Amino acid sequence: MRRLCTLTTLWLSLCHLASTNAAGTSPKSPPRQIPIDRSQVVSRFNPVRNASSTSTPMQVGNGNFAFGADITGLQTFLPYNTLSSWGWHNSSLPANSSPSDFTGLDWWTHGRLVNYDMPNPAESEISQWLIANPHRINLVRIGFVFLGRDANFTEEDLPEDRSQVLDIYHGVLRSSFTVDGHTSTVWTCVDPLSDTVAVRVKSNLLSLGQLGLFFDYPYATDKNKFEAPFVGDWDAVDNHTTVLRFANGENQAQIRHTLDNTTYLSSVQWNRSAASITKVDDSHRYILRPTGNSSREFELTASVSPNATSQSPLFFDTVVARSQQWWQSYWETGAFVDLTGTDNTTAIEIQRRVILSQYLLAVNEAGKDPPQESGLVNNGWHGKFHMEMYLWHSSHWTPWGKLPLLERSIGVYERFLPSSLQRAADQGYAGTRWGKMSDPSGRSAPGEINALLIWQQPHVFYFAEAEYHFARSTGQETRDIFTKWDHIPTESADFMASYDFWNSSTGVYDLGPPMYPVSENTPPNSTCNPTFELAYWHFGLDTAIAWKTRLGQPPPSSWKHVKDRLAPLPTMLAKNSSGDEVLTYTLYEGIPDMWTDPDTVTDHPALTGIYGLLPPSSVVNETIVAATAAEVGRVWNFTDCWGWDFPMLAMNVARLGDVEDAVRYLVHANFEFDDVGMPVGSKAPTPYFPGSAALLLAVGMMAGGWDAAGNASWQGMAPGFPSPWKVKAEGFQRML
Ligand SMILES: *[C@@H]1O[C@H](CO)[C@@H](O)[C@H](O)[C@H]1NC(C)=O
Ligand SMILES: *[C@@H]1O[C@H](CO)[C@@H](O)[C@H](O)[C@H]1NC(C)=O
Ligand SMILES: *[C@@H]1O[C@H](CO)[C@@H](O)[C@H](O)[C@H]1NC(C)=O
Ligand SMILES: *[C@@H]1O[C@H](CO)[C@@H](O)[C@H](O)[C@H]1NC(C)=O
Ligand SMILES: *[C@@H]1O[C@H](CO)[C@@H](O)[C@H](O)[C@H]1NC(C)=O
Ligand SMILES: *[C@@H]1O[C@H](CO)[C@@H](O)[C@H](O)[C@H]1NC(C)=O
Ligand SMILES: *[C@@H]1O[C@H](CO)[C@@H](O)[C@H](O)[C@H]1NC(C)=O
Ligand SMILES: *[C@@H]1O[C@H](CO)[C@@H](O)[C@H](O)[C@H]1NC(C)=O
Ligand SMILES: *[C@@H]1O[C@H](CO)[C@@H](O)[C@H](O)[C@H]1NC(C)=O
Ligand SMILES: *[C@@H]1O[C@H](CO)[C@@H](O)[C@H](O)[C@H]1NC(C)=O
Ligand SMILES: *[C@@H]1O[C@H](CO)[C@@H](O)[C@H](O)[C@H]1NC(C)=O
Ligand SMILES: *[C@@H]1O[C@H](CO)[C@@H](O)[C@H](O)[C@H]1NC(C)=O
Repeated sequence: MRRLCTLTTLWLSLCHLASTNAAGTSPKSPPRQIPIDRSQVVSRFNPVRNASSTSTPMQVGNGNFAFGADITGLQTFLPYNTLSSWGWHNSSLPANSSPSDFTGLDWWTHGRLVNYDMPNPAESEISQWLIANPHRINLVRIGFVFLGRDANFTEEDLPEDRSQVLDIYHGVLRSSFTVDGHTSTVWTCVDPLSDTVAVRVKSNLLSLGQLGLFFDYPYATDKNKFEAPFVGDWDAVDNHTTVLRFANGENQAQIRHTLDNTTYLSSVQWNRSAASITKVDDSHRYILRPTGNSSREFELTASVSPNATSQSPLFFDTVVARSQQWWQSYWETGAFVDLTGTDNTTAIEIQRRVILSQYLLAVNEAGKDPPQESGLVNNGWHGKFHMEMYLWHSSHWTPWGKLPLLERSIGVYERFLPSSLQRAADQGYAGTRWGKMSDPSGRSAPGEINALLIWQQPHVFYFAEAEYHFARSTGQETRDIFTKWDHIPTESADFMASYDFWNSSTGVYDLGPPMYPVSENTPPNSTCNPTFELAYWHFGLDTAIAWKTRLGQPPPSSWKHVKDRLAPLPTMLAKNSSGDEVLTYTLYEGIPDMWTDPDTVTDHPALTGIYGLLPPSSVVNETIVAATAAEVGRVWNFTDCWGWDFPMLAMNVARLGDVEDAVRYLVHANFEFDDVGMPVGSKAPTPYFPGSAALLLAVGMMAGGWDAAGNASWQGMAPGFPSPWKVKAEGFQRML
């Protein structure tokens, strides 16, 4: 059965039937369907432009490396970015100081002083340095030079016949534009196996000697928390160096770029024409001029690496073939949903968002580390990634049948384990306390919120349980999953049990204070027992206990002891739209004016995540969930919500059976995607990718279904979409 189910053309229905039959139940079997013509659905949404956007590029990339292009297919007129997983830089340290000078702050925590990595006013310079360093760097800008034109030649000088289409089924961007009556056509793609951008140009300007390419290098700065849409400092020419090295002057060159302690190489290889490369004085700009050959074609690859490469030269043909193969297999494996049979603009818009999100998440968010909020498009929070957001960025891979892409980064837990064990120990807790805003070394940036968030702690259980669940439902061997995961959830559960404070006056274990809940907008010294975190603690500890039981080992008694005595999820009576008093959940225990304070009914409505994102649980009451969802829908101020809030809300109401509202949330006016599918940022610059990733998680659940809660839920195909919609879904596994 396992092999059958992993075959792309086999149905959900078959897999579902097999797994439920194995479990001894026999639900109504979904109707058979013919395979979706995936390439046809995908290509329908190929982004098309006739001018550069000033906010987002067209992109090609491989998850660890991405190249943002303007209308020319390169970075000719606009300096869009080339970002990677590995390219980082430290600015010089404040005078006479070192990272070890940072001591953070001690805050009272249930009668004892606990040290937190918070900016210390007495150490403000090193605190700020640690927040802003290392930062992610823009590796190189590659563009065209129009040798017969002034340097101030701009996109506006091009005639209007510019056109550009991104073939997302193959990962190839094709652009064309006309200069002096000659049309140039440009193909751009990225190697799935190395950090290489490949370019093919067809143009009479080449044979006329009027078209060249430039490579340019910016310095990096720690001054800006957000660097969007462009990254790097192009003015500080004297603060960094570049050196041109010829490997083979005929068709190869290398440029070494050194910014303080960061050094990397660009290896450029060209084909179909000889060319010369020269440096422009007082700059880090190099110009490559195809020479002495009447060919109107030119091909080039540029590989960027921190390591001296010994690989054999890579040509355009190889890269484009590998790109086409990788992308085709990306689209043809795992799950797929097709809403295009529905004559409804909402359905088509959701389909567009889904397809473009699938493309952009593979380009930007399938690297060796958890993704930053803006992927590899531009920099936010100095290019760092957030451990609490890892769940939203990356949990969709599993239900969509693309676990290998999650596996590229999941090792972060193993890598960050030593420093996270140390963090817990330094604070007097058992187990491992995962950090927050991180760089690849695992250091968590100083910050009051950074140090006091706790909802990243149970994420390992969500990832592990989802992997176990999906492996089991496809009949796969689960022993390796246990071996791979066991010690990390164990350490996490030890922390989660030891973090809770026994409140002898109420006779329960409390979460916090001090703490910040998901929405980061409450007073930390009095925030206690937030609904989402309590429910998530239950989920984590339940899962931890189940894992030990599956392994045939007795779970540590502290886990169950604490879990059974956790504070109840806080509730209050509220007047609903009919004026009736109903019980609702609240943000945290004892919050004043839950539904009437404008500062509370804003930002993440995380209390809706307890039933939707999280599976049903005995501590969560569906009646209260429904009343809470209705109040959120009625009074929440969505203006200040973040992208992923809308898919979270959709999952909540979908589980409650309100599929009309579920699709409405997915196209909410405050949840927008631009023409190329970049999720529009509201409180952070565009793109804000947690919105795209959460969209796929929600659509995965709505299309693939979820485990039955009592007798609710599984009614066949796509239970989360309106029944008049013609939804084809294949390859999904049910969500938890
Ligand atoms: C360029 O695209 C825009 C938006 O799609 C369209 O409105 C406009 O007519 C196009 N211009 C040309 C010259 O094709
Ligand atoms: C930046 O400095 C920190 C602390 O000294 C170090 O851990 C990290 O490896 C450095 N990163 C880079 C890219 O130099
Ligand atoms: C660069 O490396 C040197 C030598 O290892 C070290 O002393 C210096 O602190 C590093 N600079 C930064 C900014 O990390
Ligand atoms: C929380 O309490 C600590 C003392 O434990 C104090 O230093 C800090 O300023 C308080 N924070 C807020 C936001 O009130
Ligand atoms: C470019 O700038 C030069 C000098 O500033 C000016 O003479 C020339 O007309 C400009 N060319 C274009 C195409 O705008
Ligand atoms: C460049 O170096 C100079 C001299 O060391 C320094 O004053 C300046 O701040 C540096 N510029 C940047 C952007 O780091
Ligand atoms: C260009 O590369 C291709 C391989 O992709 C090779 O067959 C061809 O000989 C090369 N041409 C030149 C002029 O180097
Ligand atoms: C120009 O390049 C083509 C393709 O690489 C080659 O076949 C041809 O011999 C070259 N012509 C001259 C005059 O160098
Ligand atoms: C560079 O080489 C090191 C050591 O072999 C390797 O661990 C690392 O993955 C390489 N980095 C890249 C980006 O290829
Ligand atoms: C599209 O579907 C939604 C959800 O079922 C529905 O509310 C809406 O009325 C439909 N629109 C049209 C034009 O049929
Ligand atoms: C759920 O909450 C409702 C409303 O308070 C209550 O009537 C019901 O008994 C609760 N259900 C369970 C199973 O506790
Ligand atoms: C909703 O939030 C926005 C942004 O903070 C604010 O401008 C607006 O006044 C709020 N609306 C209401 C009804 O409170």
